[in-house]
Amino acid sequence: MPGTTETVGAIIVVALLTILVQWRFSPLYSIPTIGPSFPLLSYIGAYRYYKNAREVLQEGYTKYKIFKVAMLDQWIVIVSGADMNEELRKIPDSHATFHKAAEDLISIRYTLAESIVDRPIHVPVIRGPLTKNLAVLFDDVVDEINSAFADTIGSKLHGDEWTEVNVLMTMAVVISRASNRVFVGLPLCRNDDYLRIVRQFTFDVAKARVLLSWFPKLLKPVVGTLIPWARRATRNASVYLRPIIEDRQRKLRETGGQWSDKPNDLLMWVMDEASRQGEPTEVITDAVMVSNFAAIHTSSNSITQALYHLAASSEYAEMLREEVENVVMEHGWSKVAMGKMWKLDSFLRESQRVNGITHISVMRKTLQDTTLSDGTFIPAGTLVAGASTATHHDARNYENPDVFDPFRFADMRTEEGEAIKHQFVSTSPEYVPFGHGKHACPGRFFAVNELKVMMAYIVLHYDVKFEGEKGKPENWSRWHLVLPANTNVLFRKRQV
Ligand code: HEM
Ligand SMILES: *[C@@H]1O[C@H](CO)[C@@H](O)[C@H](O)[C@H]1NC(C)=O
Ligand SMILES: *[C@@H]1O[C@H](CO)[C@@H](O)[C@H](O)[C@H]1NC(C)=O
Repeated sequence: MPGTTETVGAIIVVALLTILVQWRFSPLYSIPTIGPSFPLLSYIGAYRYYKNAREVLQEGYTKYKIFKVAMLDQWIVIVSGADMNEELRKIPDSHATFHKAAEDLISIRYTLAESIVDRPIHVPVIRGPLTKNLAVLFDDVVDEINSAFADTIGSKLHGDEWTEVNVLMTMAVVISRASNRVFVGLPLCRNDDYLRIVRQFTFDVAKARVLLSWFPKLLKPVVGTLIPWARRATRNASVYLRPIIEDRQRKLRETGGQWSDKPNDLLMWVMDEASRQGEPTEVITDAVMVSNFAAIHTSSNSITQALYHLAASSEYAEMLREEVENVVMEHGWSKVAMGKMWKLDSFLRESQRVNGITHISVMRKTLQDTTLSDGTFIPAGTLVAGASTATHHDARNYENPDVFDPFRFADMRTEEGEAIKHQFVSTSPEYVPFGHGKHACPGRFFAVNELKVMMAYIVLHYDVKFEGEKGKPENWSRWHLVLPANTNVLFRKRQV
């Protein structure tokens, strides 16, 4: 009879052997790893990826066409180069899905809302009516941005004094108002309590996502269910949304579909989509919440980065002002006019290239075994993504890639046949801040319009600079998420 010690010893040996065999015969074994791939040691690699994803990804990008990096609970296979981004986006939906990748990486079931996983009714609404109505709703967005800036920054400025403004928070306030003008309309888009709830929600999603990334797959459902933020925020926002939804449902019934002044906003389009698909009210409120999440943190981060570039080099403001004033003089404030502001568009596009909101994009999860063009075998159930930051800083794609050259895209557009390709909303294998292909961000037309109106407003009304003539601060990054530093910028009323 073997003793307890022998039994325990034998179990440990068997367990370790199992791990080793699984590791050695894993279909991912032959894909090179950045950092150690040996069982348990891979956690060291994961920690490095957590702290220094850009460096880790750059190392892989330089050495390999295809490599893998460790997160705590899974590997991500990364492909290098514009050609591979193109190959990735072409993998058919039968073989790879964007949604399952998002579900894994953002744990949307716990960080956002349960219903979003199977019933993402906001996606067709954002891709369809939201984008189609941009010109119709343009004046509303401009009106909301004007009044939101006047209430936040404008009210603090006096005479020719410089005043400190926390950019990230202020931009989130302006963006939450401008977006909700189109999402839910007046007067709710100016309700401070509602706006605070949806903003807090978007920041809590980011927090919950990083927290959950520390737990293995098996524990995620347990920990995920315990995180109360998303449910609480949705419940709090429902206090405002539900009466509006019920009121509208009643009007729809009463008018029998002939409601003459039916609202034209995202909530209404989501309600229409929900009734087409027979979904309940919860799915409608979830869709409004997830739209807020998708819109607020991405857009606030992006405009903040651009504003830091503006504050770091005052000569750009002059050039942007000139363009905005000339275009507005000729075309007035309209969606068409925004399309003529090439320098402004280029400035924002360049900031997005240099900074971005993520080091990886065009993310997919394989549904079936897939073999890439170079023969690499990717088993079903693997996360695959492109190295966006490395792509954007690759000298094969951009001249002087590490230099912020605000008007590079405007210059490129002046060449024959190049006017469309290099505008901010266009994605390409070399330009993937919005992803690329079929699942590229459907909200980018809305976002770009909003950011351009905001930037135009800022250069027309304010002078901005950093205290003590400092340069743009370094970004903050955890895993592949990229955020601007959270710092203050000096604002004053425009002097000339
Ligand atoms: C500057 C602002 C924004 C940036 C940088 C951004 C970026 C992205 C990226 C990188 C993706 C994933 C694409 C991929 O990896 O292949 C994405 C997806 C998405 N974005 Fe955006 N986004 C922005 C604004 C918005 C706005 C304003 C909305 C909504 C109004 C929105 C709605 C969505 C949705 C719904 C998806 C998922 C698409 C799907 O499920 O197929 N985004 N976005
Ligand atoms: C929701 O409302 C409760 C009670 O009023 C409050 O304690 C909580 O902080 C709110 N949560 C969010 C996310 O707004
Ligand atoms: C972050 O910020 C710095 C300086 O502000 C910039 O040069 C760098 O390339 C940025 N990009 C990323 C993706 O971290």
